[in-house]
Amino acid sequence: TVSKDLDYIKSKITKHENFPKEGVLFYDIFPALRDSKCLDMIITRLLSHIYDEFGNKVDVICGLDSRGFLFGTVLSLRMGIAFVPIRKKGKLPGKCISLKSTKEYGSDVLEIQSDAILPGQSVILVDDLLATGGTLNSSVQLIQFLNATVLECIVIIELLQLKGRDKVPSSVFSLLSF
Ligand code: PRP
Ligand code: MG
Repeated sequence: TVSKDLDYIKSKITKHENFPKEGVLFYDIFPALRDSKCLDMIITRLLSHIYDEFGNKVDVICGLDSRGFLFGTVLSLRMGIAFVPIRKKGKLPGKCISLKSTKEYGSDVLEIQSDAILPGQSVILVDDLLATGGTLNSSVQLIQFLNATVLECIVIIELLQLKGRDKVPSSVFSLLSF
C-alpha cells in the first residue's frame, strides 16, 4: 500500500545533527539509494502523483543541482520527456541566465541555459529536499524568466518547521514531511 511504501522510504532517511554547520539538522537521502527497491518506490510514487495531477501535460523535468538530478533524470526517462538542469554558477556552457538564492546554510547563484526550455513549455521542478525554500524560489523564477510555466515543484523531503513552501511561488508536492 501507499502508506506502507512511504513508511519504508522514511525509514531509509537518516538525520545528522550539526551538519554541514552547527545548528543544522541534515536529512540524508543517500541511504535510500543504497536500496534499489526504495528508489523504485520513490519513483513509482512520484510518477503516479504526476500522472494523476497533470496527465501528459508535462514537457520538461527540471532537476536542481545536485541531488535533484538523481530523481529528475529518472523521472524524465520514465516519462519520455526532456530533462534540464539548474546548476550552481560556472558549470553550464553557453548563454545562461542566473539568479542568487539563499538557503539554510549558505547562498548560491543558480543558472539555467537560456535555450534549454522554450516559451510556453510546462515544467516540473524536482529536488530532493525543501528546507527554507530559497533554492526552489529562485529556480521557479529562472523558469518564469524563460516564459515557461511551472506546473509544480516536487521534493522527496519537506522540513515543515522551516515553512519553505510559503516562499515558493508555485504549488509544492512533497512525498514525505518531517
Ligand atoms: C540542499 C538540498 C536542496 C536545498 C534546500 O542542497 O538538496 O537543494 O539545499 O534548501 P533550501 O530549501 O533552504 O533552499 P545543497 O545546496 O546543500 O546541495 P546539493 O544538492 O548539491 O547537495
Ligand atoms: Mg540540493
